[in-house]
Amino acid sequence: MKILGIETSCDETACAVVEDGRKILSTCVASQVDEHRLYGGVVPEIASRRHSECIVQICEEALDKAGCKLSDVDGIAVTYAPGLIGALLVGVNFAKGLALAANKPLIPVHHIKGHAAANYLAYPELEPAYLCLAVSGGHSQIMEVRSYTDFHVLGRTLDDAAGEAFDKVGRALGFPYPGGVYIDKAANLYKRAEIDSAPTFRLPFPKTANEFDFSFSGLKTAVINIIHNAEQRSVGRDVPDAPIDKNALAASFQHTVCDILCTKLVNAAKLTGHTRIALTGGVAANSGLREMLNCQLSSALRESTCQLFVPPLELCGDNAAMIAAQGYYEFLAGNRAGMDLNAYANRDVM
Ligand code: KG4
Ligand code: ZN
Repeated sequence: MKILGIETSCDETACAVVEDGRKILSTCVASQVDEHRLYGGVVPEIASRRHSECIVQICEEALDKAGCKLSDVDGIAVTYAPGLIGALLVGVNFAKGLALAANKPLIPVHHIKGHAAANYLAYPELEPAYLCLAVSGGHSQIMEVRSYTDFHVLGRTLDDAAGEAFDKVGRALGFPYPGGVYIDKAANLYKRAEIDSAPTFRLPFPKTANEFDFSFSGLKTAVINIIHNAEQRSVGRDVPDAPIDKNALAASFQHTVCDILCTKLVNAAKLTGHTRIALTGGVAANSGLREMLNCQLSSALRESTCQLFVPPLELCGDNAAMIAAQGYYEFLAGNRAGMDLNAYANRDVM
């Protein structure tokens, strides 16, 4: 069964064709990141306009590369929530038009469920139930994936999501958008320079009432305060203080974020008894997180045969193959949308 996936929730216009939820026949992504970088972050109106301009071409490319026509696909899966509302609406309306014109089922897909499905494309053996940490620009969530379509959220973002904190700290450090990518690079430079790469800045480890929730806003502010204090100390002085070591601060921040994510995920694994653990989302591309999670899981859960699933880099960030993959399982579960499907900026995973 072939599903055409459509994803426009943020700044990537993406279409893909996936067979039986597991095999990528094509995946096309038009990234707007170069344009948004000029403004230091995603400008919602620009995002919607660029989606409108290129969605037809990206869809044609995806069908061509998969060697099929619209009439060959069995369903059209589209991200309907959460995300930038104007951006989501472009994809939802485009998908409706295709479904209506070609008389195909329209399948609504939650973006975070789509991120979880990225691992099905890389690991044929992965099946629910398992524990999943989704970390993206808008979300940090620990979820039990009980079936392909039934998710139970153990902890979620209370303020800034992990990726958002990376991007805001990156901006304060003077790095281009998206900050996460550049903090990762800076942290690696620091690690290479320092044989013993113990982080040099002591940063807070936020406490939350529910131990599996995430709060990165205080940590972000602590880093921004270090940067601003260093700048202010040098104002009006003939001999300014030595500038802070940006790579060291980036490494300390990244280390703390990864420590928070890994600690909570490992504790959730211990509590629930899951031995299959999946990581997903844009922040899953972070080299420090991938390394630390591997390390912590193997030592904390040594007695169990614990397996970690992490998508290849090209499936960490937003793409439509993951939407088509999840769309396949939603279709099998009987989930269809009518022509009144709406888009939602905020909607919890259920
Ligand atoms: O999943 P995604 O592509 O979009 C959303 O659904 O939000 O995630 C984008 C986020 C951005 O915040 C970006 O900075 C972050 O993923 N990101 C990274 C890395 N690559 C992308 N964060 C840390 N390290 C990376 N290597
Ligand atoms: Zn995403």
